[in-house]
Amino acid sequence: MAKKAVVQGVGGAGAAPAAPLAQAGTHRRDFIAIAAVSAGGVGALAALVPLISQMAPSADVLAESSTEVDISAIAPGQAIKAMFRKQPVFIRNLTPAEIAAAEAVPVASLRDPQTLEQRTKPGKKNWLITMGVCTHLGCVPLGTGQGEPKGEFGGYFCPCHGSQYDTAARIRKGPAPKNLAVPDYTFESPTLVKIG
Ligand code: FES
Repeated sequence: MAKKAVVQGVGGAGAAPAAPLAQAGTHRRDFIAIAAVSAGGVGALAALVPLISQMAPSADVLAESSTEVDISAIAPGQAIKAMFRKQPVFIRNLTPAEIAAAEAVPVASLRDPQTLEQRTKPGKKNWLITMGVCTHLGCVPLGTGQGEPKGEFGGYFCPCHGSQYDTAARIRKGPAPKNLAVPDYTFESPTLVKIG
């Protein structure tokens, strides 16, 4: 069930002579100790697996955490911040100029080469929906709110260490390695988007 969005790694012929018995014994003890430690490590790992699987959310819980957002009030040039699984999502209605700016960039020159078309749904290039989480260290970039800096490329600006994203939310400058991630989403209607 969807939740409504809150907008905002042997010795051979050349091997060294065999070690004296005492030393060999030491080696054997070392081996036994190492084997015991290894077995302990495996045991600990085996104990962790059920714990991790208990911590992983079930498919039901994940399905329940989809988010529906009414986008009817987002005018061209505007963006909103919604919440999806406790993380911000940016939903932006690109202007024709912003679409043109994104399409004018040679894709091969990008750090994380993707076209605007690959980052949006067919026939809906103006709707740019991305996670609002910087791919450097996870800050929330600026650029959705009115008056917030959008950076040199008119998209989003992460003030934490200066990453700058363009109008397709692609990384253009600064330390972030990837574009802002595009979550799974579908258009339930022309004005209703279901994220997740
Ligand atoms: Fe965004 Fe470092 S977290 S630039």
